[in-house]
Amino acid sequence: MSIAQARRALIGRASAPYRPSGRFAWHFARGKLSRDPVFTALFERGWIPNGARLLDLGCGQGLLAAWLMAATRIWEQGGWPAMWPAPPKSVHVRGIELMLADVERANAALGGSAQFECADIREAGFGSADVVVILDVLHYMDYAAQDSVLRRVRAALDPRGLLLLRVGNAAAGLLQSLQSARNPEPEPCGRSWPR
Ligand SMILES: C[S@@+](CC[C@H](N)C(=O)[O-])C[C@H]1O[C@@H](n2cnc3c(N)ncnc32)[C@H](O)[C@@H]1O
Repeated sequence: MSIAQARRALIGRASAPYRPSGRFAWHFARGKLSRDPVFTALFERGWIPNGARLLDLGCGQGLLAAWLMAATRIWEQGGWPAMWPAPPKSVHVRGIELMLADVERANAALGGSAQFECADIREAGFGSADVVVILDVLHYMDYAAQDSVLRRVRAALDPRGLLLLRVGNAAAGLLQSLQSARNPEPEPCGRSWPR
């Protein structure tokens, strides 16, 4: 299977569970998984080990978990690019997300196969993890809160664990401003959106 074929298969399989939640959830999943290079990079680099306890902070509608599950199914069916390492097996994903609507979509799509909680990562317990993923989340909070979250991530991580962190670049201009402005307001776990 070529990389282009694998990406098409992954995008199709990972977005399919969101169909019952409506057109928005499904189109959002397809668009994000198609355009964001981090998802493909995870498989190219083989960063996530088998059996990892993966904590996804600010997980949105759970796309990372959907992506990992889709990879397992495609691999089991014998379709995987020869130049990529095998995808990680038996990863347990725990996602924490502030927006109730996202958590509901994640649970509707993947509930039972992964764990999603509606909570504020500035306060939620992290437990212990082998991999912590924080993609495009930290820039929504002030520096003191970022520092506190990262200290707690370090305490939660296994000594040989891995933090995958991506932050917004305030110097990126209009694109970044649009992304910040897009951040949702409604239903943040029953409390007001922190600014
Ligand atoms: C740009 S989205 C990224 C979603 C996901 N990490 C991804 O890459 O697909 C940022 C997410 O962080 C969540 N978020 C922001 N502040 C949060 C907080 N304090 N606690 C939990 N989630 C938070 C937002 O609700 C939003 O779903």
